[in-house]
Amino acid sequence: MAKKIAVLVSGGGTNLQALIDAQGSVLNSGKIALVVANNANAYALERAKKAGIDTAVVLKKECGSHEAFETKLMEVLDENGIDIIILAGFMTILTERFTSHYPKRILNVHPSLIPSFCGEGYYGLRVHEEALKYGVKVTGATVHFVNEIPDGGEIIAQKAVYIEDGDTPEILQRRVMEQAEWILLPQAAEKVCAAL
Ligand code: GAR
Repeated sequence: MAKKIAVLVSGGGTNLQALIDAQGSVLNSGKIALVVANNANAYALERAKKAGIDTAVVLKKECGSHEAFETKLMEVLDENGIDIIILAGFMTILTERFTSHYPKRILNVHPSLIPSFCGEGYYGLRVHEEALKYGVKVTGATVHFVNEIPDGGEIIAQKAVYIEDGDTPEILQRRVMEQAEWILLPQAAEKVCAAL
């Protein structure tokens, strides 16, 4: 039986789209059963609805505290019998209380080659700004298991992407998505689901 996947999102959801598009080809051992957003305006929710996938919105400000927010998330995930959780542009750091509830069952995609440009404060465009500022010539993406250390869990897959003359953070972000994230994430999800 295909494993039940929940994808947690905050924004545009292009990585969610890559997972949706991979279903039935690259991704066979798992099926996206639920998309959860921590932002009611996340375009990712539209992508899920278009694909006929159930959605939920859990807002920290409605829960009152980060702890209550995580409790609500866990309730939603457990009620839906979720096997694997994929953080795809989910811009909230999860504490040990949450991560230890799902050992080796949470995956995250990060837009750099960990351990470079990662950890608290490194998310989205900021990662690419810092890579360009540092002057690295190669960056990429990493899919890793999530534990209590931000971006510190075991690495599942990585793919390198070259920096080119004239790159801006936006151009680089797009290339890292196209050449690495959108390919790597469905492959890693399949690998983890197949091994479960
Ligand atoms: C992606 O580049 C993802 O790797 C990054 O945010 C973007 C979300 O885009 N995640 C992080 O920086 C997490 N630390 P998307 O909503 O279009 O998938």
